[in-house]
Amino acid sequence: MMRKSYLIIITVFVAVTANTIYNTHDSVADEFDNDLDHHEEREGRILFPFVSIVRFANTDCASTNTMNGICLARRECNNLNGTITGTCASRRGRCCVVSRTCGSTTNVNNTYFTSPGYPAAYAGGQACTLIVNRCNNNICQLRIDFLDFVIAQPDGDGVCVTDSITITGGNTIVPPLCGDLTGQTIFVDFNGNAAITIAVTATLATTFARRWNMRLTQLGCDCPGLAPNGCLQYYTGITDTINSFNYGTGANTLLSASLVTGTRQIANLNYGICIRMEAGYCAIQYAQTANDVFSFTVTGDVEGADNTVLGTAVGAVNDGACVTDFVVIPNPVVAATAVPVGTDRFCGLGFVPVQTGAKPFVLYVVTDGNEGATATTPPDVANRGFSLTYTQIAC
Ligand SMILES: *[C@@H]1O[C@H](CO)[C@@H](O)[C@H](O)[C@H]1NC(C)=O
Ligand SMILES: *[C@@H]1O[C@H](CO)[C@@H](O)[C@H](O)[C@H]1NC(C)=O
Repeated sequence: MMRKSYLIIITVFVAVTANTIYNTHDSVADEFDNDLDHHEEREGRILFPFVSIVRFANTDCASTNTMNGICLARRECNNLNGTITGTCASRRGRCCVVSRTCGSTTNVNNTYFTSPGYPAAYAGGQACTLIVNRCNNNICQLRIDFLDFVIAQPDGDGVCVTDSITITGGNTIVPPLCGDLTGQTIFVDFNGNAAITIAVTATLATTFARRWNMRLTQLGCDCPGLAPNGCLQYYTGITDTINSFNYGTGANTLLSASLVTGTRQIANLNYGICIRMEAGYCAIQYAQTANDVFSFTVTGDVEGADNTVLGTAVGAVNDGACVTDFVVIPNPVVAATAVPVGTDRFCGLGFVPVQTGAKPFVLYVVTDGNEGATATTPPDVANRGFSLTYTQIAC
């Protein structure tokens, strides 16, 4: 039903100047909302020429398709080459989703970094780089959510030689990663005003259906969602599942240098995973993720072990026998008996549930540079890393 309205619109710009939105944190709606269906509301009214100046904050806004945007005037969103997904600020602003691909720079909160042509497969080529600048001086951390991220697997020793993602320029050491990182989240501290560079290298000569979509959230220095210093990953909530990077269901099809089935576990890791102690909870339990015999295959021969070993106490190794690849859990006791484990290092092909009251709640992940044999151990075969489920324990 079309209705004719005669409007004379005088729109006044208040010059927000060239540095506009990122520093001032508000926008001026510089346009009449003529794309909104206000006709019914206006029915029967006499419309006069009017002047409209509306300011609104550039807060984040949730769009319909689960992507987060930022609330901007339409013109501002167009200037950013953003996509308008809805309205915000009482319909005066537009929820603007900004996504960028190779060779771009962004200082917009909630920018999505996607592979070229996403979600179609990306063949690879030169390094695909996004430079992230802080959106204001009070930003301390960049939260990177790997919403969807699949690049080539590491070589059989866990080294990311074909494809890799590197994240540099921040104050957090991020190891080169590759493979399937979907569902992972990492936190990278900004180093003052320096930009953080995210670079995905994908070898064109290796045919692989790569694609990625990362959400980049800028966290203010006073933001409750900040990860504590030194935690590359940070979990909240009383229970969740922690997967090692590139943990997955299939084995790596590549051979290790020892000419046995290779690993999915990424090499050369040394990082901390922190878990926020929730109110009313005093200790934490870790267990292998249920219904998955491969959910703790950190060292040893997966192919040579059957289900009486994989994922059982028989397959579990700890203490001084864990020197190449291992998980550290401070001061644990055996969950079933409350008897101290007497070590904080875990590796092997199984994991006996443990609890610890040591604070902060943290586990460390260490891997070496290969899956090769040592003087005392045969080579690791077909390791996948770990999937541990934690549950906080009430005081
Ligand atoms: C938006 O796209 C145009 C055309 O591709 C480009 O020239 C301009 O630099 C882009 N602006 C931003 C902020 O990315
Ligand atoms: C960026 O957006 C996230 C969520 O969308 C929000 O929690 C955070 O505070 C925003 N950062 C800034 C600097 O506004």
